[in-house]
Amino acid sequence: MTVRHTIRVENCGDHFTCPEGEGVLQAMEKQGRSSIPVGCRSGGCGRCRVEVTDGAFKAGPMSRRHVSEAEGGQALVLACRIYPRSDLTIRLATPAFRTAVEK
Ligand code: FES
Repeated sequence: MTVRHTIRVENCGDHFTCPEGEGVLQAMEKQGRSSIPVGCRSGGCGRCRVEVTDGAFKAGPMSRRHVSEAEGGQALVLACRIYPRSDLTIRLATPAFRTAVEK
């Protein structure tokens, strides 16, 4: 049986599930959700950048131009290239989109 983890998006209160081993962005799209901005789907454009505020995940290859550590040591990563190992809480980290959602 496939383990499914719950992904919570802090900025907008959305949540969806992601099977272990599947990318967070891909799982979101399969469920018809749109809380995380979608771009190249391959770790290059940075549109899906999020801050993981809680939970464990495995990261695949992604452009270093768009990822780093946020203040407090939280990980800034690309949702199309992270694979949850537990329930995750994330925060949108693409500045323009974050501003629009939080208004
Ligand atoms: S959608 Fe382009 S980096 Fe994730």
